Amino acid sequence: MMAADRTVHGVPPSLSAKVVGSFAYLTVRDRLPTILTKVIDTIHRNKNKFFEEYGEEGIQAEKQTIGLLSKMRNELQTDKPVLELTDSLQDTECWNQYLQRQQKMHGDEDSVSWFKSPWLYVECYMYRRVHEALWLNPPISDYDVFNEGKTQSFFESQQAMITLCTYLEGVNKNMEELSKNELHEHFNKLLQVSLWGNKCDLSISAGQDNSQKTSPIDSLNSLQPFILVNDSNMVWSTLLSAQRPGQSEKTAAVRVDIVLDNSGFELFTDLVLADFLVSSHLANEVHFHGKSIPWFVSDVTANDFQWTIRQTTAANHKWMSKTGVQWKSHLKEGAWSYHDHPFWTTPHEFCDMEADAPDLYATLQGADLVLFKGDLNYRKLTGDREWDHAVGFDTALRGFGPAPLCSLRTLKANVQVGLQPGQGEKLGSQDPDWMTSSKYAVIQFSSSKCEQKD
Ligand code: F6P
Ligand code: MG
Repeated sequence: MMAADRTVHGVPPSLSAKVVGSFAYLTVRDRLPTILTKVIDTIHRNKNKFFEEYGEEGIQAEKQTIGLLSKMRNELQTDKPVLELTDSLQDTECWNQYLQRQQKMHGDEDSVSWFKSPWLYVECYMYRRVHEALWLNPPISDYDVFNEGKTQSFFESQQAMITLCTYLEGVNKNMEELSKNELHEHFNKLLQVSLWGNKCDLSISAGQDNSQKTSPIDSLNSLQPFILVNDSNMVWSTLLSAQRPGQSEKTAAVRVDIVLDNSGFELFTDLVLADFLVSSHLANEVHFHGKSIPWFVSDVTANDFQWTIRQTTAANHKWMSKTGVQWKSHLKEGAWSYHDHPFWTTPHEFCDMEADAPDLYATLQGADLVLFKGDLNYRKLTGDREWDHAVGFDTALRGFGPAPLCSLRTLKANVQVGLQPGQGEKLGSQDPDWMTSSKYAVIQFSSSKCEQKD
């Protein structure tokens, strides 16, 4: 048995496609090749566009990119070794070193391959290889192959977005008169809207429509029983105790960071929550963290972020366009800012951040609260390991805690910690897909490691 396969010093092994029939196995066997096939089709469908923009060079680039992607799909499907990256980007060295580390853990006689490595690693690696295939083929290097799906999912959720903007308008209009309890109630609602917004990602559905069709506010009551851990009171107390009246404007500023997940409806719900935080003065600054390359089909890039705000402003609905204008001014005035860092698109568990991306760790330490959106962030928070469900969230974080943090996640992968003893087993017997169907969710908080900022 290799080190990677067993519990070492209380840390269980990583989830892997090695276990035939597991969700990781089915993802690597079925879902990832489907996603790659869609990527190839999209590039092929855009052949004429590339020709119009770049002439013959565009056509050559299209062909070569498709060649590289088909080769990778074949490597995946036949469980070939994971290869080093060859594109000399800022993070290439880091990926290749990671592969060497995996190889060491794996033992030298057998290669690190698609089905025999940690699932988190190979899934991230696939998206990085998609980026490589495009990058190696200028002039289409910057083409975001997932863009069409992301914009489509925005338009398909328009009605739900209008409902949210109308709600926000009502809250903002009376903001000054709201009692603390009323403020708390609105906060809880918008936190849960942002939580359930995470149902709408395109990687779990391999790119199929997954948009929001019903009213997000009206659904909250019926969704309540599916929140398995709800630490929202701790999130609220953290925000309240971060208020520092009587101090200078600079030191008193309360900052919330949101580590974003998906574009489309989910991003919209995050922006609505961030708007409420700033308009209610619960926070003075919101820092958004997105991805620097297209990632996991629907994850937010800088381009998606700016596009969403522009589309909101341009909407043909009074409250929606007003909301967009408000968001533009939050950005202009510095209440909101967008950031990205290459660490978010590595396969690293977050407990490695302090050592591997100390600058990012130090940045997060400046926040009073960090919200981590979505399933992939949860997998990285907990290391995507075979934890017992009753193990504490703090234990699974393994020392990661730059600031008080909260995961807002619908369950789409089989890792879940912090449940009551027996709760996971009971759910498993009633609903075998409970960990992967995104029917259940958690609002899970930790402030174990950080000292309070004063
Ligand atoms: O397996 C489902 C999956 O593709 C996982 O790889 C990933 O954790 C998740 O979907 C992506 O979900 P989210 O967008 O919530 O991070
Ligand atoms: Mg995602």
